[in-house]
Amino acid sequence: MRTEYLSSAPSDLQRAADLLKAGELVAIPTETVYGLAADALNGEAVAAIFAAKGRPADNPLIVHIAAVSEWERLVSHIPPQALALAEAFWPGPLTMILPKTDLIPNEVSAGLSTVAVRMPSHPIARELIALSGCPLAAPSANRSGIPSPTEAKRVAEDMDGRIAAVVDGGTCDVGVESTVIDLSTTPPRLLRPGAVTVEMLTAVIGEIAVDDAVVQPLKSGRAAASPGMKYKHYAPKAKVILVKGDKNAFVDYVNAHAADGVAALCFDGEETGLCIPYFTYGARDDHAAQAHHVFEVLRRLDEQHVRIAYTACPSQDGVGLAVYNRLLRAAGFEVIVLE
Ligand code: TXA
Ligand code: MG
Repeated sequence: MRTEYLSSAPSDLQRAADLLKAGELVAIPTETVYGLAADALNGEAVAAIFAAKGRPADNPLIVHIAAVSEWERLVSHIPPQALALAEAFWPGPLTMILPKTDLIPNEVSAGLSTVAVRMPSHPIARELIALSGCPLAAPSANRSGIPSPTEAKRVAEDMDGRIAAVVDGGTCDVGVESTVIDLSTTPPRLLRPGAVTVEMLTAVIGEIAVDDAVVQPLKSGRAAASPGMKYKHYAPKAKVILVKGDKNAFVDYVNAHAADGVAALCFDGEETGLCIPYFTYGARDDHAAQAHHVFEVLRRLDEQHVRIAYTACPSQDGVGLAVYNRLLRAAGFEVIVLE
């Protein structure tokens, strides 16, 4: 298949919408990461997403809508808490899980009785939902298991020849995937941290549970609340090792481990004193910048043939929790704590 590369020009967006209507796969920009979209109500089109990504069939997809009114036919009931969250954070990087209606094909929900829905804020994503007239099922547009793409050229690296088109909308603003909250349980449960933080959610709906899998490996024998938690995730070819400590301790530690193919992934302004190659991913206290850069910098490690990346560990406050969660998985939960 020859992949078409489209811009945000009106004629290109119309072309992308026509492809989506015809059941084809189109990668689209969102404010979080690029998504690999298909008509969410077309089971065959949705099945093709799993094939293109190499995604396990039991990992359900998020359905993207452009207006709250489109939500009503996708879920069986919208509780007041869900409406309050939609009012506060939609359009934006928040995904809500509720019991689904029969309109949702099994391919989307992967056999679960619930469906995840989000209203993105990116103008191109919204325009494509409107032009195609379809809610769009879209996982991140990477091959399964590796870092999510935040630029169109990264989508091309993974998907060229496997999908009908890529729409280039520049660099994604947020940089990590949406916050996922399950509202089908009491209390509501955070399944994946993102730019809408625990503090922001709590301020609107009160107490929420944070699933153990957010910061811990899934315990063997326990079912994943979110099937995506079971799988290796976000990992470049390079081995990522998180290192928890202050600037000086980090520099001393990585310098002592200097070798061919070893690099540091550190905070902006904390590179002084490093005697090995380094990449920076935002200032220590700037969690939004870290989120914006983290996936791109993980992909750069492989471009530069890094074997081992000692990575300065982000804090778990605010949006930092989302960055920590992604890096922890990229590192296969390997964390070195310096005294
Ligand atoms: O920001 C985002 O959410 C991006 C953009 C493209 O919108 N999409 C995204 O999709 O990250 P994906 O498929 O890479 O991650 C969706 C996560 C997976 O971990 C999946 O297991 C979980 O949401 N999920 C989807 N539906 C679910 C459901 N019904 N119950 C529990 N978890 C669900
Ligand atoms: Mg993903």
